[in-house]
Amino acid sequence: QPPNSDYDLSTPINSATGLRQGLASYGDAHFSLFLRKAFIKAAGFGEDALSRPIVGIINTFSAFNPCHANVPQLIEAAKRGVQLNGGLAIEFPTISLHESFSSPTSMYLRNLMSMDTEEMVAAQPVDAVIMIGGCDKTVPAQLMGGISANKPVLPLVTGPMMPGSNKGTRIGACTDCRNNWAAYRAGEIDIEEISDINSELAPTGGTCGVMGTASTMACIAVALGMMPFNSATAPAVSSARLRVAEATGGRAVEVAASKRKPQDVLSKESFLNAVTVLQAIGGSTNAIVHLMAIINRHPAVAGEVTLQTVDEIGRNVPLLVDLKPSGDNYMTDFHNAGGMLALMHTLRPLLHLNAKTVSGRTIGEELDATPFKPFPYSSSIIRSLSDPLYPKSSLIVLQGNLAPNGAVIKASASKERRLLSHSGPAVVFENTADLAKRIDDPELPVTKDSVLVLKSIGPVGNPGMPEAGVIPIPRKLGNQGVKDMLRISDGRMSGTAGGTIVLHVSPESAVADSIFGIVENGDIIGLDAEKRELILAVEKNVIEERIEKRKASLKETGFAQGRSTKPKRGYRGLYESRVNQAELGADFDFLRADGAGAV
Ligand code: FES
Ligand code: MG
Repeated sequence: QPPNSDYDLSTPINSATGLRQGLASYGDAHFSLFLRKAFIKAAGFGEDALSRPIVGIINTFSAFNPCHANVPQLIEAAKRGVQLNGGLAIEFPTISLHESFSSPTSMYLRNLMSMDTEEMVAAQPVDAVIMIGGCDKTVPAQLMGGISANKPVLPLVTGPMMPGSNKGTRIGACTDCRNNWAAYRAGEIDIEEISDINSELAPTGGTCGVMGTASTMACIAVALGMMPFNSATAPAVSSARLRVAEATGGRAVEVAASKRKPQDVLSKESFLNAVTVLQAIGGSTNAIVHLMAIINRHPAVAGEVTLQTVDEIGRNVPLLVDLKPSGDNYMTDFHNAGGMLALMHTLRPLLHLNAKTVSGRTIGEELDATPFKPFPYSSSIIRSLSDPLYPKSSLIVLQGNLAPNGAVIKASASKERRLLSHSGPAVVFENTADLAKRIDDPELPVTKDSVLVLKSIGPVGNPGMPEAGVIPIPRKLGNQGVKDMLRISDGRMSGTAGGTIVLHVSPESAVADSIFGIVENGDIIGLDAEKRELILAVEKNVIEERIEKRKASLKETGFAQGRSTKPKRGYRGLYESRVNQAELGADFDFLRADGAGAV
C-alpha cells in the first residue's frame, strides 16, 4: 500500500503523515493543500497519479557539463523505474558544476550547490529524491544537502567516460592530461601530438575515467550504503548505466514508502567503511575534504570521524585497486573486473558489516545476497588483501609545527619514494601569480632537492581552494629529467594527479597566525611520511617573531585572521566570511549539523 501523497486531499494533516510545513503557508492547511493540488493539476497530472508516492529527480543537466551529458537518458530510465513501481516521478533542476567551467573553481560553488540541493529537497512535496550527480563536486554537494534536508534521498551517478586512444596507447582524463602536458613542457612531445592527444582525452560523455574525485565519490556513495554495489562503475554510455537508473527509480518508491532518511541510514560505521574504501581505491585527496564536510552535516557523527580517523584506518588498509593515478588502469577496467561488488567482498574482513544501507538491509546482508567469485582478470585489477598494489596508508595525514591542524599526502601517488622522507630548503611562492611569474625563470635558485612551497591557495586565501597544489616542476629541472619534487601548499590537487605533494595545510597561510604563512625562502622543511611529520626547522622564537610582524602588517591592510574586515557583497562575501578550514571540510560554518565553529 503506497503512502498517501502530498496532493491527496483525503490525507489527514498532521506531522505523522510526513506532510511538510509548507502546507501551512497560507494559514489554513486544508486551503494550502487545495491550492497545491490546483497547481500540480496545471502540470497535467490526474487524480490517480497524484495519489502515489512522489519521487523527485534532480536534473543536473547543463550543456556546460559534459560529465552529465547522459542525464536526460538517466532521467527517462529513472522515471520508468519509478512509474513501473507505482510512484509518480517529478524532475526538478538544481545548479550543475563542471570542473573546467566553474570559475574560479567548482569547489567555490560546491557549498552553493549543497544549499540549493538541501533547500529544494526540503521545500518541495517529495517523498523521496533521486539525486543525479557525477562530476567531482556534485556528488559531495548532493550528499551534504541531502543529509541536511534529511528526506529519503538516493544518489545516482552519471558514470565514468570511456578511455580514448593515442597511437595505440589508451589515454583518459585526466591523469594522462597531466602526464602528457608535462611531457610536452619538457619537450618530449611536439605540438601536433599534444593536439591529437587533446582530442582523445575525454572521448565520451561521463566523468573522468580514472580514480579521480568523481570516481572516488561514486565508490564512497556505495561504501556509505547509499547506492547499490553495481552502481558506481557502469560507464556513462552503457546500457548497464541506464539499467542502474531504472533500478534506482524502483528502489526510490520503496524508500519513499519506508521513509528511510539519510540520517537514519548513515552512522559512524558507514563513514568508517567509506574511509576504508577510500584508502583501498587510492582515492582522491579531495574526497577527504568532501567526506569531512559530509560527516559534519550529520548530527550524530559530526566531529566523531576526523582526519585522524582517515590516517588510523589507512594503517590497516592496503591499496587494492590498480587504477590511475596510483596504478595503471581505467574505470572501465574496474567495472569489468567486478567493480565495487568485487571490492566490497575483498574488503569484507575490514568492513563494519552491520552498517545500514538505503535498502533497509545491512552491508553484510547485501554482500550475502550478492556473492562474487573472483576470476583472473578481476584479481589483476582488484588485488587481494595478501597481494596489494601498495601495502597500506595510500592517503596519509601529516601533523607538525608546519600544519598543526593537519595536512594530507597521497603517498601512493608519489613518483619518487625517496621524497617521502626528505628535507630541503624551501623555495617559496607567495601566491599563484608569483608562481606563474617565477617558476620557469632560469635564474630561480632551485635544485631537485628544494621544497616548493605555494601559499595563499587555501579556502579563505583563494576562495574555492583551487587545485593548484601540483606545482609544476621548474622548466630547467624538467629539462634535466626531474619528474617529481616535494611540493607543499594549503590548496588541493586534482584527484587524477600524482607526485610527492602535500596538500590542505591547516591553518592555511591566509590565517594570521598560520605558521605555513611565515615560511621564507631557504627555511628547511622536513617531511617524514612514516612518522606522519611535517616540520618547519626554524627556532620557535623566530617563528613567533615572524607571526607577530605578520599580524601587525595584516592589521594595517584591513585583514583579520586572513578574512577581509571590509564586507564583500553576494556569495563571495558569504564564502569569505564563513568558510571553514580544510580539516572541517571547507564547508560554511553555519551549515555544520552541530553548529560548531559558527562565527
Ligand atoms: Fe567532470 Fe572530471 S571533469 S569528472
Ligand atoms: Mg577532478
